[in-house]
This record gives sequence, C-alpha cells and structure tokens, in this order.
Amino acid sequence: PRLVVAVDGPSGSGKSSVSKEVARRLGAAYLDTGAMYRAVAWHCANSQVDLTDPEAVLAAAQGIELVISVDPDAERVVVGTEDITQAIREPEVTAVVSTVATNMPVRQLLVERQRQMMDTHRRIVAEGRDITTVVAPDADARVLLTASAEARMARRGIQLGGTVGEKDLKEQISGRDAKDSTVVDFMTPADGVGLVDSTELDLEQTVTAMLGEIER
Ligand code: CDP
Repeated sequence: PRLVVAVDGPSGSGKSSVSKEVARRLGAAYLDTGAMYRAVAWHCANSQVDLTDPEAVLAAAQGIELVISVDPDAERVVVGTEDITQAIREPEVTAVVSTVATNMPVRQLLVERQRQMMDTHRRIVAEGRDITTVVAPDADARVLLTASAEARMARRGIQLGGTVGEKDLKEQISGRDAKDSTVVDFMTPADGVGLVDSTELDLEQTVTAMLGEIER
C-alpha cells in the first residue's frame, strides 16, 4: 500500500539516521530535503553566486541540475556532472545553507520539487524542517523528532569526529537553528503531528518509537 511519512526536527535530533532506518524497515524511499538546500548552497558557493543577493540565489536555484537519490542505502547528490554527496556536508556549506533556506522563493521552488519527488514514489519517508507542515501536511504519518539541546550537540559533535570545539559547535548549531526558525517552526509539533523525544533513546529505540507513531 501507499505510504507517505513526514519527519521534521532540528539539527542533531537524529532525524537523518532514524528516517533512513525507518525507510529501510518500511521498504520505502528516503528523501533528505536538507540535502537539496545544501546542494543549492554548494552550487552558489562554487559558481561565484553572491549569497547576499536573493535574486542571484533564486536564479542559481532555478538553473541547478540537481539529481538526488532516494535509496536509503545509497545517498547520492549530483549537480550537473559533479558528485557532491560528501561536499555538501563540509562546514563551508553548513555555514551558508541557512541563507539559502531563508530565501522564500527558493523554498517555494524546492518545496515544489520535493512534492513532485514524493508523488513519484508510492512509499516514501521524507525528512526536513517543514515536511509535516508545508511539503506534506496530508502525509499518512507525521512525526516531529526532538531532543534536548545538550543531546543534539553531543550527537553532532560525534558526527563531526570531534574536529570542532564545544563552543564553536554550540554557536554553529544554535546560530543555524535560530536563523532557520525565522521561516519555519520545527521545534513544536503542529496539530496532529506526533512527537518523539530521542534525548534518552538510542538509535534502535528511536526507530521503534517512530514506527509506533507511524502505526497509530
Ligand atoms: O545538519 P542538519 O541535519 O541539521 O541539517 P539538514 O537536514 O542537512 O538541513 C540543512 C539546512 O537546510 C537546515 O539548516 C535548513 O536551513 C535547511 N532546510 C530547510 O530549511 N528545510 C528543510 N525541509 C530541510 C532543510
């Protein structure tokens, strides 16, 4: 049967790992919408697009040839002929992605593409910041994944391999969350959206809690 699952949450909530595993267990496709914002940010940074010029950023987003895989076991992001799967995770991209994500016309464009991708897959888990509210408010299951600020920071620190100091990490995460929050609320569940708090849960327990929410 057809199944659309929408997952939102802040940085370090475990959204990506959990959504990927949930997709595997449900035999569903997996859409990482954050990777699309990251791809546009990467493209701007690599083609001398002035990030302070909203119209230039929109033009870049309109012109981008973006291909993103929806296989939870083979994440792949390609722009033109360049594989940027790794590059979009670099701190240089993370540092500017919110500038792209707070550009409303760019959001509209990417939301449209996300809906198209979701329409072409019978079963899909899509994750981001506005999936439960804007991209797919009528999804079969909608879940907001949260965790305490401390837990989120600890996870992101581990993900980055301890290369970033605690103070810098804190500034990066809270700075990005603060900027992102000006355009979309991903900290409180909207009406009808289930809440999973992963603060005290490991990956397996969070996946179980998420699957429980989806079955409700
Ligand atoms: O690093 P993290 O997993 O927290 O973020 P991500 O999911 O890779 O998303 C990167 C950035 O894309 C976020 O900081 C937001 O600026 C933006 N984003 C968004 O605005 N809306 C979405 N649905 C997904 C991501």
